[in-house]
Amino acid sequence: MEAKHDVLIVGAGCAGMRAAIEAFDAGADVALLSKIHPVRSHSGAAEGGINAALGNASEDDPEKHAFDTVKGSDYLGDQDAIQVLCDEAPGDVYQLEHWGAVFSRTEDGRIAQRPFGAAGEPRTAYAADITGHVLVHVLYEQVMKRDIPTYEEYFAWQLVINDDRCQGVIAWDLLNGGLKTIGAKTVILATGGAGRLYVGTTNAYACTGDGMTMALRAGVPLKDMEMMQFHPTTLAPTGILITEGTRGEGAYLLNSEGERFLKRYAPNAMELASRDVISRAEQTEIDEGRGVDGNVLLDMRHLGAEKIIERLHGTRELAMTYAGVDPIQEPIPVRPGAHYHMGGVDTDLDGRTELEGLYAAGECACVSVHGANRLGGNALMETITYGKKAGRHAADWALMHTTIEVPEAVEADAERDLKVLLDRTDGERPWSIRNELAETMHENFGVFRREDQMREQGEIVSGLRERYERVVVDDKGDVFNNDLTQALELGFLLELAQCMVVCGLARKESRGAHARPYDYPDRDDENYLKHTLVRWVAEAPVLDWKPVTMTKWKPMERTY
Ligand code: FUM
Repeated sequence: MEAKHDVLIVGAGCAGMRAAIEAFDAGADVALLSKIHPVRSHSGAAEGGINAALGNASEDDPEKHAFDTVKGSDYLGDQDAIQVLCDEAPGDVYQLEHWGAVFSRTEDGRIAQRPFGAAGEPRTAYAADITGHVLVHVLYEQVMKRDIPTYEEYFAWQLVINDDRCQGVIAWDLLNGGLKTIGAKTVILATGGAGRLYVGTTNAYACTGDGMTMALRAGVPLKDMEMMQFHPTTLAPTGILITEGTRGEGAYLLNSEGERFLKRYAPNAMELASRDVISRAEQTEIDEGRGVDGNVLLDMRHLGAEKIIERLHGTRELAMTYAGVDPIQEPIPVRPGAHYHMGGVDTDLDGRTELEGLYAAGECACVSVHGANRLGGNALMETITYGKKAGRHAADWALMHTTIEVPEAVEADAERDLKVLLDRTDGERPWSIRNELAETMHENFGVFRREDQMREQGEIVSGLRERYERVVVDDKGDVFNNDLTQALELGFLLELAQCMVVCGLARKESRGAHARPYDYPDRDDENYLKHTLVRWVAEAPVLDWKPVTMTKWKPMERTY
């Protein structure tokens, strides 16, 4: 064992750093471990904002926020978890402000808030269109102020399970090579999502579901894995996020006929309907021949140069750099792209998993506050509020326990498995399997889902897993061996894909992001108002169900 700590946090984005700060302030010896530098984490790519009922732009309160979130989730969100999020959000945002987050301001100096999709009030606090970037830097300052040690460029590969407890992590040291074991009384997974399962995604290359699969392999169930959110405005052809903040500021979506087509799908909310509704509307327009080269158009011209430059300068830069389009002059080509996994590691309200000592927070967790469809701006808020809660509980637990034991056999097994992979000299290269996985997931498990395509995808993924058994890593070196880490990431992704297909087939209804217009076009509360739960048993996913926690909101029809 290289080192040990009370609390070890895997992943150093917003959830991980917020958890670390809280655990440190609770008196624990805490460390972060991340495969990339903290300020390069994917949280930094969040653009449009963070939701809290501050009431700075209208009469608002946490109750309204909670109702919008429950309704937005298509009633699959756990209402107790949503209530906690919405009640704690304002205090948590003011704390970020006091730490130095440079939020955009109202005329009278308060935190500015913009409208976002499916929110009844303008509730999204923002720092122009680089909110995630701002928060990552503020949190990193707080981490540095506390001198919290960070194992930077350590690739977490396996959890250490001993005595029915999680007691650390085995990681590959990217800079120096070799497996290193960091022992811990509690481990918090905060590794983000798995958007790289798809070819068209807003997610960074690092978003490969590492924490979800490590938990799965340790016997911990994943929840609602069929619920992958497609964001309606990803830039063609790269998939880079074009923020919902553009529509919050008033941008239109147009088809090839110049029509604001949302009037036929969401006549009241129009461009501010929920993401699932807008993504389906766009896909329908494209499929029915009213797209423009496989896209629709996001038109911001009427906002004027001044507003675009002040509030959406990042978006303008992205559009000019990656699509050669200046949105002051021309509409931007956009299409739905995989953006956010509502599903993840099943946790309670303190981020605890079924396995003692193991916690999860942020996108890799499923508390669940997003249910079948997340509202834009609620993800950053979840990272902060639930990162804080996981950090606090993990620290308190660790301070009441003394031992950390990592049996030598656990490390020896990991060394042996890695050697098998590195010693192989013949076989298939990982990238070809990874590309095939991402292309077929997009085709067969996208905005709309069909029974036959999901079944086919199940077979494709099984075939890819067989091929993965013979995968070859060409680079045998120790220093920044991306060939090796990408092969390990592929292993993570393949298991998650298989879980998603099993859950998708089992949910025989349409709810939120899981749309089956051809066989089960309606939501079926009688039979499916429940979470899917999936465990990994004998190298295969096994499905189960879990009740949704309902407190005061009865399911209603969702119209926008
Ligand atoms: O569109 C956006 O700015 C994304 C925000 C989010 O996913 O919460």
